Amino acid sequence: MCRLYENQAILCSVSLYNYDKNVDYRVSTALKDSNQQGRDMIISFEGIDGSGKSTQAHRLMARLSREAKEIMYVREPGGTEVSERIRDVLLDPGLTIFPFAEMLLFSAARSQLVQEKIKPFHARGGIIICDRFFDSTVAYQGGGRGVADADWLESFQRTVTAGVWPDRTYLVDITVTEATKRLASRSGEKRLADRMEQAGGPFFERVRATYLSLAEKDPKRYVVIDGSGSEDEVESQIWKDVSSLLY
Ligand code: ADP
Ligand code: TYD
Repeated sequence: MCRLYENQAILCSVSLYNYDKNVDYRVSTALKDSNQQGRDMIISFEGIDGSGKSTQAHRLMARLSREAKEIMYVREPGGTEVSERIRDVLLDPGLTIFPFAEMLLFSAARSQLVQEKIKPFHARGGIIICDRFFDSTVAYQGGGRGVADADWLESFQRTVTAGVWPDRTYLVDITVTEATKRLASRSGEKRLADRMEQAGGPFFERVRATYLSLAEKDPKRYVVIDGSGSEDEVESQIWKDVSSLLY
């Protein structure tokens, strides 16, 4: 996860980024044209821990901030005071949390984030970048823990998110072996694995397989990104798709 933006929902007003009104107008119009529901855009990033999705979410935010009206970045679980407190409970390696309770806690953190930050921002217009959203619950609690099947969880998440749904989801896909290596060498950090990271290799294999099957089932929303290349290579795959949506 990119440390710079940790623990926050971030609003980027373009006035901070050499804002050009003509560009803003063009992007807003293009977004409305390209989006069948006439809304601005919600983009989510998904993948197993260490896949590089936070790096890419932040790269996309930096890139879009130079062009679009307003961008909000949120990470899950978190992004509000209540959700961050739930996050602390969820990731505490000293706690035992039963799988169904875990699913409800992730969902509670999400519900708070949607009501407090995402919906009000969405109503004003702009681009929302979600570093994880409800698909994480389907993949981790559904596929990884086996609390319920994907269809049930997805329909429950419609209630949790009050129908707020991403327009595009990037699944940054790498092998569990590669992700584990990246996590181990992450900026020389020496810290205990959090409660979720302790779940182990076979758990992450199930999570990855669930993500891939979600992507196969919903090819209109999902784009699978090969996350094994360099950060620049991964960014250019994502940008190619984002620009095709915007322009
Ligand atoms: P995630 O949010 O999926 O857990 P991060 O973006 O935090 O992953 O990246 C995990 C680690 O891998 C970080 O140390 C990051 O610098 C590094 N990393 C991210 N993308 C790449 C990449 N394409 N190639 C090599 N290392 C990467
Ligand atoms: P985090 O450090 O934010 O991981 P990452 O950088 O990979 O996103 O920790 C969040 C952990 O919570 C991560 O292991 C994924 C897990 N998670 C779920 O199990 N279910 C969920 O619904 C969400 C949002 C996250």
